[in-house]
Amino acid sequence: MAFTWLDIRCLHMFLLCKAFGYTLSSNTEIKVNPPQDFEIVDPGYLGYLYFQWQPPLAVDNLKECTIEYELKYRNVDDERWKTIVTKNLHYQDGFDLNKGVEAKIHTVLSTHCTNGSEVYSSWSEATYWKSEEGSLETRIQDMECIYYNWQFLLCSWKPGIVVHSDTNYNLFYWYEGLDNVLQCADYIKENGKNIACKFPNLESSDYKDFFICVNGSSESNPIRSSYFIFELQNIVKPLPPESLSLTVKNSFEINLKWSVPKGPIPARCFIYEILLTEADDSWMTNTIENELHITRMLSESQELCFSVRSKVNFYCSDDGIWSEWSEAQCWEGDGLKETWPFFVIPFGLISSFLLLLTCLLLHKQKALLKSIFHMKKEVFSQQETFF
Ligand SMILES: *[C@@H]1O[C@H](CO)[C@@H](O)[C@H](O)[C@H]1NC(C)=O
Ligand SMILES: *[C@@H]1O[C@H](CO)[C@@H](O)[C@H](O)[C@H]1NC(C)=O
Repeated sequence: MAFTWLDIRCLHMFLLCKAFGYTLSSNTEIKVNPPQDFEIVDPGYLGYLYFQWQPPLAVDNLKECTIEYELKYRNVDDERWKTIVTKNLHYQDGFDLNKGVEAKIHTVLSTHCTNGSEVYSSWSEATYWKSEEGSLETRIQDMECIYYNWQFLLCSWKPGIVVHSDTNYNLFYWYEGLDNVLQCADYIKENGKNIACKFPNLESSDYKDFFICVNGSSESNPIRSSYFIFELQNIVKPLPPESLSLTVKNSFEINLKWSVPKGPIPARCFIYEILLTEADDSWMTNTIENELHITRMLSESQELCFSVRSKVNFYCSDDGIWSEWSEAQCWEGDGLKETWPFFVIPFGLISSFLLLLTCLLLHKQKALLKSIFHMKKEVFSQQETFF
């Protein structure tokens, strides 16, 4: 009797567990299956890949339970996995297609489902390698992309180490928002071969992955493609600052000023590096303002020069490229040397004018005196004749 009762209880448990998609072991441990049909799909966007999967088996009746998925992925050889938790059945991200991609996913039952700690399924795994032909020596070298003044993107490269003379390379690009992969429309050529690409105005392309593939063709052998992924705001090279001014007060207080580089980069996005040279000494400092006050300890040197360069700061990007150095602005001594023409010329003119005036006046005065003397003499002689 007791035996049958136990049997029925077990059967009940079994049915219950089946219905809820997880199995209870003897110590009531809940289990869940991994997601099904996990795969990595390449839509042809040069590194933007889709992950997709189906719900685990036997969870159809697990209505009150939120099933979540923990997805981990990385480029092969990367140290760290990126981890995301989602309720969806898909996810996407950008990858470096020069390398393989590996990913794994498992089902997570949250605590309110299990009345205890979270329950994970085993992992489903997937990998993706872009099949590539051509030897590594045939791919381009020294790719360099610079986003000049946050306005003009230019990428340049050198041909592969081992290439036939008929080899030419082509650049393709894509970012989220473009319907299709586009080919470069404005190549810079050298001896008839493409060596750089001038991009058109790229609308709403900041703060998202920008994908590039440079592949090539040759009659004699296949050419290996190269893939690049970056964010445009991180490769900005601004213009150097202009209108530098250097003023020295009381020969201790130095005030350096310059104007924010022209263009679309907001003033709050700049960091400046200042190079100050004083006699044989030079030192550098950074600021995010477009001026700098310095108090000198010693004021012996009679010559000071400074120049500035600019970069996008960490409020606006993760990285950047320093602009060229501005032209140097100098101050010499008490400022007389530098400014003497402005003082001496008017001063000279004024003094000459004053001299001339004095001469004229003197001359006039002399004439006046003369006439007075003459008058006096006349009066005197008249008096003389009178008496
Ligand atoms: C949930 O846990 C509480 C406290 O640990 C326990 O009293 C209760 O019986 C559990 N319920 C289920 C359905 O396991
Ligand atoms: C180069 O890549 C583009 C974009 O993926 C592709 O459409 C084109 O066929 C490739 N060309 C060669 C020669 O592989």
